[in-house]
Amino acid sequence: MTAPRTLPGHLAHPFSPRGRLDPYPAYRWLRENDPVHFDVTSRMWLLTAHADCALALRDPRFSAALGQRERVRDDELPPSMLTTDPPEHQRLRSPGALLMGPAAIRGIAAGIEAEIDAVLDGLATRAANGPAGDAANASGSAGGGMIEATADLGEPLATGVLARLFGLPPADVPAFAALADRVSVNLDPLAGAQAAAAGRAAMGELTRFLGERADAAAATANEPGGSPFGRLAADDRLTRAETLGIAALTVVGGWKPLAEMVGNALHWLLPRKEAADLIRHGGQEVAVSAVDELLRLESPIPFTARVTTEAVTLDGGVIPAGARVLALVGAANRDPAVFDGPDELLVTRSPNPHLAFGAGTHLCLGAPLVRQAGGLLLSGLLGRYPGLRPAGEPPTWAPGLVPRRLTGFTLAI
Ligand code: HEM
Repeated sequence: MTAPRTLPGHLAHPFSPRGRLDPYPAYRWLRENDPVHFDVTSRMWLLTAHADCALALRDPRFSAALGQRERVRDDELPPSMLTTDPPEHQRLRSPGALLMGPAAIRGIAAGIEAEIDAVLDGLATRAANGPAGDAANASGSAGGGMIEATADLGEPLATGVLARLFGLPPADVPAFAALADRVSVNLDPLAGAQAAAAGRAAMGELTRFLGERADAAAATANEPGGSPFGRLAADDRLTRAETLGIAALTVVGGWKPLAEMVGNALHWLLPRKEAADLIRHGGQEVAVSAVDELLRLESPIPFTARVTTEAVTLDGGVIPAGARVLALVGAANRDPAVFDGPDELLVTRSPNPHLAFGAGTHLCLGAPLVRQAGGLLLSGLLGRYPGLRPAGEPPTWAPGLVPRRLTGFTLAI
């Protein structure tokens, strides 16, 4: 076997503190020079070419169950779709569609619109409050007239939309949002021991929170106003523990990536007037296309883990059996073999076979919801606030790896 190739010294490892700020030069080098790369630092195989990532996500020789095992942070938590392989996976995923499949989303479409209107109305109130105070507030909401992309847009969006899925009464929403935030640390495979322990505790609390609401939700599942969560909880194909596993996965996998997608999107859009105008005036179809393109360029979940069950020959090389593999979809999504002008924003790009939602059997079940809610938010925001612009200190990329996200992104409205 030849010695593993190493990144040239001038390129920061994509998982290092410097590389996390801008992983794309390292991704490019890997894709061009060693697309099936054994990384001595993480002792994992890194796939960076689109064809190889797409294959790994679709091929049963790459086990998601084994890949996710080391990331499951709560031993008492039952398996969910993401931690199982076929055929067990399909047994869980089919009922999971009751919670977030296209029919579930259609059923709460008016509620989603109402939540987005409420988020946008909230900005109007803030704008009316007069000039900004100290806008450089990296940890939360900014002052009047100024907003912080995640605190004032992304998080209220994600909370409102998920609250509709779960049919939560307004009184439960603040506690839910706090738990959703705390469990999100479980997304980051390189979170430290202390953060991981906190994530484990939060997961237990979230599961209890949802469990306490499951019976009531199931009892009203088929009444007017019944929630998608109620229909999941009433489905007798699943045990209660499995229902809660799926529900908790939805919160861990959905809340933070949806919340952070907004800032990532605005970071790209606001300096590009033509692109913003297209979304402002193009209707929901263009806005949804833009959501896909923005996720391609800045994928909140930049990689996902698998373990090979046998040796696999890829275009870029051979991976042995039992290997830990990361499909770096953030790199694959800028592969020039598939995308013309891969580092450019083209809001009407079509086709756009990006892998930001994964691919194959584990393709993100929340994708229709993300497209609909993200499209409505972006077009509504740009339409109602044509003067929206970055203000204050430039934002920085957060040190965590998953989700890829900005901090301290202040905007003037
Ligand atoms: C921008 C936001 C989001 C992104 C980028 C994203 C990305 C992904 C990716 C890459 C996967 C596949 C993981 C793998 O193959 O290992 C996935 C799976 C999943 N996502 Fe999302 N997601 C987002 C939002 C959501 C939301 C809002 C929900 C729920 C409401 C959700 C629910 C799920 C579920 C349940 C799975 C597991 C599907 C399965 O294993 O069969 N996601 N997501």
